[in-house]
Amino acid sequence: MTIEQPATSALPLPPGTSGLPWIGETIAFLTDPDFANKRRQQYGEIFRTHLVGRPTVVMSGAAANKFILATNFDKFSWRDGWPDNFKELLGASLFLQEGAEHQRNRKLLMPAFHGKALTNYVTTMTEITDRYLTKWEQISDLTWFPELKNLTFEIASVLLIGSEPGAETTELSRLFTELTNGLFTIPLNWSYTTYGRAIAARDKLLAHIEQVVLERQQQPSQDALGLLVQSQDEEGNRLSVAELKVQALLLLFAGHETTTSLVASLCLALAQHPEILATARAEQERIGRDTPISIESLKQMTYLDRVLREVERMYPPVGGGFRGVVTEFEFNGYRVPKGWQVLYRIPEAHFDPEVYPEPNSFDPERFNPDRYEYKPSDYTFATYGGGSRICIGMAFAQMELKIIAAMLLRRNCWELVPNQNLTLDPIPTLHPRDGLKVKFYKL
Ligand code: HEM
Repeated sequence: MTIEQPATSALPLPPGTSGLPWIGETIAFLTDPDFANKRRQQYGEIFRTHLVGRPTVVMSGAAANKFILATNFDKFSWRDGWPDNFKELLGASLFLQEGAEHQRNRKLLMPAFHGKALTNYVTTMTEITDRYLTKWEQISDLTWFPELKNLTFEIASVLLIGSEPGAETTELSRLFTELTNGLFTIPLNWSYTTYGRAIAARDKLLAHIEQVVLERQQQPSQDALGLLVQSQDEEGNRLSVAELKVQALLLLFAGHETTTSLVASLCLALAQHPEILATARAEQERIGRDTPISIESLKQMTYLDRVLREVERMYPPVGGGFRGVVTEFEFNGYRVPKGWQVLYRIPEAHFDPEVYPEPNSFDPERFNPDRYEYKPSDYTFATYGGGSRICIGMAFAQMELKIIAAMLLRRNCWELVPNQNLTLDPIPTLHPRDGLKVKFYKL
């Protein structure tokens, strides 16, 4: 006997509330770090809310991640998940592309983020980090988060948009801050509004990148922008100057706030777990503090790898991703209509005690191959998203993180300043509320 399944249209909408007219629950979403978790406990793995003017369902846990990122990928639109400000300020870049166009562009960007290309970035990452460590040793009393952001911005801007370290990077960083301020504001394009200044900053950044692209076309180089200029598909087509400009700008946007967040969480976690810090430091001593940082020496840092995976599990910088629903679907017995918005959530799967026993304890050994709680294919680990649109910069970010971590372990110690608020706020990316105040020393 076959049991008739109800047609999707007969199923109920997910449980939840829509909040205030138009504004919905947007304010709680933006201000309450526990917004999703509280509602998940009340309603389960799928609930209904209303965010930034749209009916929204929030889905969390490994099964939801797999559903959205892989098995039902074609029911969702990436482009439709981004607010209009993003579309205007970040242009026709990978974040806003779909289907064949996305695949073509992703393929062309890929060579700058994998294999041999990464080897060429080691020296730049090491040199810039070395300069920052020297500076911090001199300052000693640090509000670390903004400093870490300067470091990761400099690495990203030198490698991704070909800036010169020093005054030029400082100016680009200022322009970039103006641009990002425009992402979350009312879109009134007048010269004196935040949005107007963001548009002007975007144009100046694009003009800068165009100039560097033209130089790289004349004289190939091994930085990421140089590789993107040379990248070509099977038919020999290359990215046009217009495409290169917006893609490089997007990469700069996607590539440094997230990394800053993870480095800050790593520094916080190590300060709170001296025994783990000591083991990680002992590994560096075994490898040799003066052994140059290289792809080979990085490979030997296996304990550090586990520490970093555990930081990625416990402190994912990105809380999730929005998508537009292009085809009505059913999940866990509920119906989600076409035209709604979906938010898939990253952290909840990482704290599932069935997968990660004692999920609130910081335990790098859970990534020891003998235990290996994490299985790459089951979507229980989604710090970098998943499926065919998994973060393109994952290997770049993990290498950068590892280089900064190894250098810190080799030459510095730091103590948390008492009486600071260490709450981690999730928006735009996970960050310590008081900016992570530390006393920073040379060993
Ligand atoms: C710790 C650092 C990083 C984290 C945690 C991170 C996280 C993520 C996540 C979660 C997604 C998927 C979002 C979604 O499904 O809605 C994503 C996509 C993406 N990331 Fe990253 N990211 C990091 C570093 C980087 C870097 C360094 C770059 C480039 C230089 C980068 C470029 C991108 C791009 C271009 C996409 C879109 C890929 C596509 O649509 O095909 N990310 N990232």
